[in-house]
Amino acid sequence: MRQPLVAGNWKMNGSTDSVNALIEGLRAGIDTVTTAEMAVCPPYVYIPQVAARLAGTPISYGAQDVSDQEAGAYTGEVAPGMLADIGCKYAIVGHSERRSIYGESDEFTASKFAAARKAGLIPILCVGELLEEREQGITEQVVERQLDAVIDLEGIAAFASAVIAYEPVWAIGTGKTATPDQAQDVHAFIRGKLAGLDKAVADGVRILYGGSMNPGNAAELLAMQDIDGGLIGGASLKPDDFLAIGQAANA
Ligand code: 13P
Repeated sequence: MRQPLVAGNWKMNGSTDSVNALIEGLRAGIDTVTTAEMAVCPPYVYIPQVAARLAGTPISYGAQDVSDQEAGAYTGEVAPGMLADIGCKYAIVGHSERRSIYGESDEFTASKFAAARKAGLIPILCVGELLEEREQGITEQVVERQLDAVIDLEGIAAFASAVIAYEPVWAIGTGKTATPDQAQDVHAFIRGKLAGLDKAVADGVRILYGGSMNPGNAAELLAMQDIDGGLIGGASLKPDDFLAIGQAANA
């Protein structure tokens, strides 16, 4: 069985004080989450603080992005080995904000995915269509193209140690959630595509939903057969809301 994963993507939010308060809130309530693995992805600078404050809890942590390079003259970049060195388990790659605001391509995302795995991190590969792509009826082609860039570079076996997050761009930060059926359809498409290449890998890979997931809609999304957790933006900044999403995955 796939253990659900509920991961918080804090994006570019936080301060020393707010991070302490958020982690304190999570520590206080984590016992109410019995089934899902919970993880947080703070801004880079707060990761050591988060790591120290999470010590002794089952909550994992990771980064929101990672360099495609190992080390050297890459001003402003953070190497995957550095993230592994400070105890990160996960690195998000290919978030739609990286793709659309910073112009990161499918191929560049694939190279980050590869670099993360090489350093022992578990990449959380984000895929998803823009509103106009959904309206044009090309959601599956877009998601397939994003997956193929990684499969071409790394092979299907790489997904045995990776997580996929389906995040329809029109649902991110908009309060507009994909319906459980809309999300399930794309999740099933992703798993089916992987199954065509390796059934065992497809059965094992966790596919998270992301896009305005909150305590009010989490249970019905998480009940869908191919939705194995969530990648949570706004609601992950409120400890009670984030924990409530985790609780919605309780067996
Ligand atoms: P929201 O939950 O704020 O819509 O953000 C989703 C997201 O982008 C997670 O990576």
